[in-house]
Amino acid sequence: MAPIRLLVGCVLALQVFTAALALERGCPTGTGNNTYANPALSLPYDGYLPAIDNETMYLHHTRHAGGAINNVNAILARYPTLRDSVTLADLVSKIGLKGFTHKYKIADNDTTALRNNAGSMINHAIFWRIMTSYNTSSPAAHLQPDLSALINATWGSPAGMLDALRSSASSLFGSGWAWVVYRSNGSLAIVNTPNQDNPLMQRFAAPATHGTPLLGVDVWEHAYYLRYRNVRASYLAQWVYLVDWAVVQRNYELAKAGSIDSLYC
Ligand SMILES: *[C@@H]1O[C@H](CO)[C@@H](O)[C@H](O)[C@H]1NC(C)=O
Ligand SMILES: *[C@@H]1O[C@H](CO)[C@@H](O)[C@H](O)[C@H]1NC(C)=O
Ligand SMILES: *[C@@H]1O[C@H](CO)[C@@H](O)[C@H](O)[C@H]1NC(C)=O
Ligand SMILES: *[C@@H]1O[C@H](CO)[C@@H](O)[C@H](O)[C@H]1NC(C)=O
Ligand SMILES: *[C@@H]1O[C@H](CO)[C@@H](O)[C@H](O)[C@H]1NC(C)=O
Ligand SMILES: *[C@@H]1O[C@H](CO)[C@@H](O)[C@H](O)[C@H]1NC(C)=O
Ligand SMILES: [Fe+2]
Repeated sequence: MAPIRLLVGCVLALQVFTAALALERGCPTGTGNNTYANPALSLPYDGYLPAIDNETMYLHHTRHAGGAINNVNAILARYPTLRDSVTLADLVSKIGLKGFTHKYKIADNDTTALRNNAGSMINHAIFWRIMTSYNTSSPAAHLQPDLSALINATWGSPAGMLDALRSSASSLFGSGWAWVVYRSNGSLAIVNTPNQDNPLMQRFAAPATHGTPLLGVDVWEHAYYLRYRNVRASYLAQWVYLVDWAVVQRNYELAKAGSIDSLYC
């Protein structure tokens, strides 16, 4: 009896261990030998009202973002060494670079698919992370003096930064993202990236847009069409009241420390 119990115990322990790894991978970060999960939102789907409606959040999270995660998992299953060696931030940063493509023997069509789908995965992970309940009160209270002073020096005030972000996001043609990035020289900037590109992408993001994202807004129509139809500016005017300034502060500290992997968890 004892050896059988021991065996059952081991199998159970292994299952628990595997489940724990899968959750960690869903972060989405880490280098476990398993697949990415769709990271949970911090609020229920109807927790972003009145800026974003329940159905939009549900479809956005499960179908749009979830679909890209399934695509990344399907591609990485064919590149186990790549899957087991790099974090999501590494993959997004290096995809398409010659040395990286050669090292992991990534086919051109898979590079394109990873650019779009791993891009979507990291973009949405940061997007979910920096949104909280709708609040129209002054955001500056949640910022530490260092970031508050840098934002004021760059845009006059946190509200000025959001105005500049909205204006940049409004000017983006087609689908894409507007970001506040931290640059390696310590400055902040607002940049746009088309489609699912991310400012971390060394090969695919335009050099002028490079940096570590602290805050980003999704301006694909799937993010707002049900409630706002084609009027992106109305969505943006409401979206800014969802920004979680405590997370923006946290992201600034992580970016300064170079802890890019932690940004998306
Ligand atoms: C992933 O797999 C590789 C090779 O099979 C192994 O060396 C590595 O320890 C594994 N990593 C984890 C986190 O399980
Ligand atoms: C939100 O949408 C989901 C998915 O359609 C649905 O299951 C849920 O009942 C909705 N919740 C509310 C409060 O409308
Ligand atoms: C890339 O092409 C290969 C070979 O035709 C195919 O097996 C693979 O599924 C393609 N990748 C994608 C993402 O469609
Ligand atoms: C909105 O933010 C202000 C300023 O930080 C805070 O005092 C207030 O409690 C918040 N309101 C809600 C409903 O969370
Ligand atoms: C930045 O500007 C805001 C809004 O004017 C103000 O509340 C905040 O104290 C300023 N921050 C610093 C560090 O001066
Ligand atoms: C930091 O670098 C950007 C371009 O990468 C440049 O536009 C900006 O002026 C620089 N800022 C400082 C404070 O050096
Ligand atoms: Fe999206």
